[in-house]
Amino acid sequence: MPSLNLVPASTLDYRALAQKRLPRNLFDYIDGGAYSETTLAANVADFEKLHMQQRVMRDVSSISTAQTLFGEKLAMPLALAPIGLAGMMARRAEVQAVRAAEKANVPFCLSTVSICGLEEVAAAANRPFWFQLYMMRDRGYVKDLLGRAKAVGCKTLVFTVDLAVVGARYRDVRNGMAGGLSALGKLRAALEYPTHPAWAFDVGVKGKPHMFGNLSSLMPTAQSIGDFKTWVDEQFDPSCTWKDIEWLRSVWDGNLVIKGILSTPDAKDAIAAGADGIVISNHGGRQLDGVASSITATRTIRNAIGDATTILMDGGVRSGQDIVKAVASGAHAVLIGRPWIWAMAARGQAGLDALLKTYRAEMHVSMALTGTTNIAEIDTTILDTNWHE
Ligand SMILES: Cc1cc2nc3c(=O)[nH]c(=O)nc-3n(C[C@H](O)[C@H](O)[C@H](O)COP(=O)(O)O)c2cc1C
Repeated sequence: MPSLNLVPASTLDYRALAQKRLPRNLFDYIDGGAYSETTLAANVADFEKLHMQQRVMRDVSSISTAQTLFGEKLAMPLALAPIGLAGMMARRAEVQAVRAAEKANVPFCLSTVSICGLEEVAAAANRPFWFQLYMMRDRGYVKDLLGRAKAVGCKTLVFTVDLAVVGARYRDVRNGMAGGLSALGKLRAALEYPTHPAWAFDVGVKGKPHMFGNLSSLMPTAQSIGDFKTWVDEQFDPSCTWKDIEWLRSVWDGNLVIKGILSTPDAKDAIAAGADGIVISNHGGRQLDGVASSITATRTIRNAIGDATTILMDGGVRSGQDIVKAVASGAHAVLIGRPWIWAMAARGQAGLDALLKTYRAEMHVSMALTGTTNIAEIDTTILDTNWHE
């Protein structure tokens, strides 16, 4: 018997609501991964395979999920990952997200390719948020952008390094996002908008302007994901190396976190280049299909580098239980990508508020039943050691 489905309970409930509300091409843009989506599936499956060890009869009457990251005391070890085009999924989504993040006392990271620009988000925020950078060929623009980020109070820069080229997502190709549409295809694609009226009103009518707020002078005409991809191919700089970190350091004096690390040598290079932290990430399975899941890479890299830097991880986190498993595997915190944008697309800020509350409550239960009362106590001993043998 299906339940009444009156109230969303889990991340996947929000995904189902987002699927109903969004035009198909936008839902697939969020949901999909590169090529055969094997890494996307592994990100989730490897969390499922990882078992915790239940412990009982400990005093778990007082539990703290708090974690400190880059000097900020947070309610839990979680941040909202940068999501490009978020403002196309819900009305001014980046503004709503920064408000939800503040309410839950976790960081929000604004994407370079957001709809709402730095200044619009800052006007809605009461404390610093993080900013994510893609390196563009036009270094003058990058410098200006970082100046804008600093001017609005950003202290932590997340520099994403795994987009030297863009992995193809077959769902986007099938939806005609990469071009190649026949006249009938164009008609079918256009019909997606009026057939999703709640989204069309919220975003299409009330959520304007539909521009890239941080890039408006570089990309004034880009309206569609297809235009966006062309622009990325032209503008993102594939010649970037660790040497460019020196230049970045000369124009950014805040925290620098390198996102998109999946191997131990790259983690060591990031540390040597002076990063304050790394994000172990395969871009949510959207770039090189066939690489290891993020949770597997987290365990490998943490074993190799120990406490040398602050380790964040993302990819496949779908619950508070997963956050506890990630911390037990060596991460200081996780980022969530799809979960927050699903919740936002489904129910706006109220959806994301509820999801973040759920994650914290789930962490609380997971900690109580693994006999841990604070984040520092969560380590490999709470994992069932048979899981990876
Ligand atoms: C729709 C979408 C857009 C994204 N845009 C960006 C982006 O602009 N910058 C970036 O560094 N990562 C981007 N990512 C990757 C996320 O920051 C994050 O690494 C990934 O979503 C984590 O996996 P998860 O979705 O399983 O949580 C995007 C991911 C998705 C799903």
